[in-house]
Amino acid sequence: EKPRVFVTREVFQEALELLSKYYEVEVWDKYQPPPYDTLLSKAREADALYTLLTDRIDCNLLKQSPRLRIVAQMAVGFDNIDVKCATSLGIYVTNTPGVLTEATAEFTWALILAAARRVVEADHFVRWGEWWRLKTGWHPMMMLGLELRGKTLGVLGMGRIGSRVAEIGKAFGMKIIYHSRSRKPDIEEKIGAEYRSLENLLRESDILSIHLPLTEETRHLIGEKELKQMKRTAILVNTGRGAIVDTEALVKALREGWIAAAALDVFEEEPLNPNHPLTAFKNVVLAPHAASATRETRLRMAMMAAENLAAFAQGKVPPNLVNKEVVNIRRPGF
Ligand code: GLV
Ligand code: GLV
Repeated sequence: EKPRVFVTREVFQEALELLSKYYEVEVWDKYQPPPYDTLLSKAREADALYTLLTDRIDCNLLKQSPRLRIVAQMAVGFDNIDVKCATSLGIYVTNTPGVLTEATAEFTWALILAAARRVVEADHFVRWGEWWRLKTGWHPMMMLGLELRGKTLGVLGMGRIGSRVAEIGKAFGMKIIYHSRSRKPDIEEKIGAEYRSLENLLRESDILSIHLPLTEETRHLIGEKELKQMKRTAILVNTGRGAIVDTEALVKALREGWIAAAALDVFEEEPLNPNHPLTAFKNVVLAPHAASATRETRLRMAMMAAENLAAFAQGKVPPNLVNKEVVNIRRPGF
């Protein structure tokens, strides 16, 4: 008898086909995530879970799932999973690093350019008739934005995604500075990026782009004090996790002009309520947590999660194991 995997959303057929070679597959076929209670009852009967970042895999759920041996997340981030608790229970946790680096870096640049050159605002300006009403085809002072060449790009979190964003910034003729838990001599050498303390990063950046994972240390890392240290002309970009920025502080910063603009793909609460104060600012570009959303990347992510589950079912250590210590607690396999 095959082990049972519960897949919390419809994913690509290719991934489900791979899974069905090793597992009895059950797929949650609604567009919305399974409610917590449903997730709990499914997990209780499952040997494996295939999860998304919208599924709360907390210690309560893990403890109530006696058969569960592996949680394979289709995302690079895994702040929705209590990994420490999983490790203590001998449950493997995997993610999908690397394959979404390019898509996420490209989208970060879409946001940077959109905010710097007011692309969304410009579209609305034309579409809703303001340009027409002003009766001027071209005006020297119309839609002025920020030129990137010669400006400073601050990268907060110099992992795979941060490095790729920095590299592209170099091609725009920007000066690159960064702050990260550890220094990256290879990247400093390759693109001439300079290390800064967090405070100096905030003070010097014209564009500040966040590429950190969400952890206890990074939650609300950017609050009032930090936003006040930024330039009044600076643009804050977040494609990491919403909760790295204190949203209330950000709203205050935008309202009082501590910074010039923001471009956000991630939020403390997703989906973002359309009545949220953030939606009222013209100088804020919003996106629905979609930075990795290219067909190529999402397929690779889906396959990678399935491959981790396939390896585990064959008694192998999954290639993208997050909690490496778990192998000392339980061997892979069912
Ligand atoms: C998306 O946010 C991911 O972590 O993959
Ligand atoms: C994620 O892939 C990162 O390391 O930035």
